Amino acid sequence: MHSSQHDETRERRRAAEIAGRLLDWYAESARDLPWRRTRDPYRIWVSEIMLQQTRVETVIPYFERWMKQFPTLEALAAAPQEEVLKAWEGLGYYARARNLHAAVQEVVARYGGEVPDDPEAVASLKGVGPYTAGAILSIAFNRPVPAVDGNVLRVMARLYAIADDIARPATRRVVEELVRAMIPPGRASEFNQALMDLGAVICTPRRPRCLLCPVRELCEAWKAGRVGELPVKGRARAPRPVERVAAWVEQEGRLLIVRRPQEGLLAGLWELPGGDVPAGLAPEETLRTLLRDALGAEVEVGEHLVDVRHVFTHLVWHVRCYRAALAPGCKVAEGEEVRWVAPEALGEYAFPAIYNKLLGLIRADR
Ligand code: ADE
Repeated sequence: MHSSQHDETRERRRAAEIAGRLLDWYAESARDLPWRRTRDPYRIWVSEIMLQQTRVETVIPYFERWMKQFPTLEALAAAPQEEVLKAWEGLGYYARARNLHAAVQEVVARYGGEVPDDPEAVASLKGVGPYTAGAILSIAFNRPVPAVDGNVLRVMARLYAIADDIARPATRRVVEELVRAMIPPGRASEFNQALMDLGAVICTPRRPRCLLCPVRELCEAWKAGRVGELPVKGRARAPRPVERVAAWVEQEGRLLIVRRPQEGLLAGLWELPGGDVPAGLAPEETLRTLLRDALGAEVEVGEHLVDVRHVFTHLVWHVRCYRAALAPGCKVAEGEEVRWVAPEALGEYAFPAIYNKLLGLIRADR
């Protein structure tokens, strides 16, 4: 036997062993949730939409009220939109309710009120993405398709010691294929829910309960002591706003520009003199101080010319630009990091996009 075949066989055995233990664990430890007492695809669909951005404990009472108010897919489809939105009130992300309402109406119109069990048809319903489609198909219809949400990404990244950024679509596709290959024949519904529960109860983001984990001995991250490092998740945080000031200092037809430090953001590029404004300080006063410290220049700050904004990966700059004039008798000498530049020569200097925008706006204005 070739060693690659050998590896493949071993991988398949390991996957089957993991799946078997997860099913055993789930049979004993499944959380008792209202949408687990049914195979009704409508109920499972509603639960998955509610659970998309909302915690299980919050969803439970909403789900139970919803099912009293709209016990069938037809009842929901026939309800006026105001009533649907009212029932959703407090759950947030109201597009979920509007999409669900529109989608059940489509199911009535196109599929006679029966939720389709065909992957393409399910995935084409409004508000149903790959995860939700996989959840409906597997949980309600036991179809062997993956349902990979954040919990499952985390569990799989640890089981297989996947160090790729789980926020990347390519990583999700890898995980989906691993899950697809792992689903035990005929057990997709329980298996996918077992993965979800393991992520929710044992394999939690912080302080995972590895000592209680049914698949600990099969977990690559556990064996390598890397549970705390995995999964790797790229920053999806909102960029931090940074207030900045800049000075338009012109003398004898030349503009004063300075070079940014050789390290850090936009290293070595040219910009107008200025810098960050600490929270709570006045921009004009800050600009005077910055120019005094950086260039030894005393300036008078004049009219506010323009504001520009630029989004970086982690930051948003808001640059407020003022006209400024050197105080009488004050000189700024050229150097490696300081230039007086004629307008026609500005193109020879590399500016960050935001400063090109700013220069363009000011010059267009003159
Ligand atoms: N989170 C999302 N879907 C879930 C489900 N079916 N069971 C438990 N947690 C979930």
